[in-house]
Amino acid sequence: MGKVIPLDLLLPDSPKILFAAIQDMGLSVDYLINNAGIGKFCHFEEASFDTYQNMLTLNIHALTELCYLFLPTMKQTNSGDIINVASIGSFQPLPYQAVYGASKTFVLNFSEALTGELLGSQVKVMALCPGITESNFMSTANADTSTMKFSPASKVVEDGLTAFAKGKTYKVSGLASYLNSLVPRLFSRKQTLHNVANMFKDRILS
Ligand SMILES: NC(=O)c1ccc[n+]([C@@H]2O[C@H](COP(=O)([O-])OP(=O)(O)OC[C@H]3O[C@@H](n4cnc5c(N)ncnc54)[C@H](OP(=O)(O)O)[C@@H]3O)[C@@H](O)[C@H]2O)c1
Repeated sequence: MGKVIPLDLLLPDSPKILFAAIQDMGLSVDYLINNAGIGKFCHFEEASFDTYQNMLTLNIHALTELCYLFLPTMKQTNSGDIINVASIGSFQPLPYQAVYGASKTFVLNFSEALTGELLGSQVKVMALCPGITESNFMSTANADTSTMKFSPASKVVEDGLTAFAKGKTYKVSGLASYLNSLVPRLFSRKQTLHNVANMFKDRILS
């Protein structure tokens, strides 16, 4: 029977409360999956600064602190793994989602850095990079979804777990998204930026 510990990860003590609750229950953690995240489609200056503070707290701070709290025991016991949910947006800047995109670049970069520190260990860290996926994300983020093609969330989960079992350090779910993730390697940063800006400028819901 699963146990749910509901917490608002925007509150500063929530990661510590979660860690302590799991210790108090005498549970060991097989998987830490940092999935919670929020985004916003808009011109940078058009959202409130609170919006960005919440985005940075949830997408970066809570995720980092949860890794910080859970990783030492995983290393000591040589058991437990971490999957951090990044994004197809992790691979290049995202105009019109500037803070969100940068937060997801952090998640990919941070997760791979931990992987580097864990070489030779049984404990694994993987960044899962979904493309556009069916969920509440786009409506919460104020996105115009009329031209978007969505993948089912179940496909992203399946892709992620299969890649994790194969020892991948990151996984872009879906072939089209994977090809998109290669674009920054094929074009200059400036050209990539122009392409992404053109693609996203019409995706802000007015
Ligand atoms: N959907 C996409 O197209 C897409 C693409 C790339 C990456 N992603 C990433 O995928 C992850 C999951 O998002 P989603 O697509 O499933 O979007 P979603 O339907 O909006 O779900 C957001 C998730 O974050 C949790 N969350 C939000 N605020 C929270 C808070 N203050 N404290 C604790 N949990 C909080 C939600 O928990 P509750 O349900 O309890 O509110 C929910 O599980 C995110 O990291 C997102 O950046 C999504």
